[in-house]
Amino acid sequence: MDIANAYNSWSSQYDTNDNKTRDLEALALQKILQAKSFKHCLEIGCGTGKNTAWLLSICDQITAIDLSKGMLEIAKNKIQSDKVNFIEVDITKDWTFANQTYDLVTFSLMLEHIEDLNAVFQKVSRVTAVGSLVYIGELHPFKQYAGSKARFETESGTQVVTCFNHHVTDFIQAANASGFQLIHLDEQFDDADRSQLPRILNLVFEKL
Ligand SMILES: C[S@@+](CC[C@H](N)C(=O)[O-])C[C@H]1O[C@@H](n2cnc3c(N)ncnc32)[C@H](O)[C@@H]1O
Repeated sequence: MDIANAYNSWSSQYDTNDNKTRDLEALALQKILQAKSFKHCLEIGCGTGKNTAWLLSICDQITAIDLSKGMLEIAKNKIQSDKVNFIEVDITKDWTFANQTYDLVTFSLMLEHIEDLNAVFQKVSRVTAVGSLVYIGELHPFKQYAGSKARFETESGTQVVTCFNHHVTDFIQAANASGFQLIHLDEQFDDADRSQLPRILNLVFEKL
């Protein structure tokens, strides 16, 4: 299913479905970023604002962007703050919304919907400065190799959202090529059980 339509259709259930990936990624983001503070965060693929409220506790301003009107509507109803600007943006198109630099850029569970990582990192590079951080929390590629995909149930059956598999080196090489250095790599496991496949891959890059 087309990504925007899929998330428009998923949006009303997204916060309430059982979803271990969604919940574990939220915990990971908080664990990794909790001791830091930022002036202006660009939250890419903010969805229903799952992470936006917590990011407000460490960021002065947030520009929260998403492709899906349905997901954004829920986020806007949930978070009414003059520190957050929600904008409908497809990040594969021109970034006309970005007229400043951000010291934090986050991608939570969204890069699996992006085919060309290099193009995205090139755009991120244009809106960041030396020392800016890029946080990534993704469905772990090992889970993808085992068949996991973003999916949800409707009356007409299971809907699978268009996804692309990226290897760990794909993320690192795309980031490096745009001037970002890996400063943190982590993996999150269900119930901290390291005998199972890791569910979430975390990468943090710093702009050189
Ligand atoms: C699995 S949801 C994650 C939402 C939120 N970050 C979270 O962790 O719950 C992926 C989000 O990425 C958005 N998205 C996918 N492709 C996009 C694109 N090209 N530009 C902007 N947002 C996109 C979708 O609309 C969706 O809201």
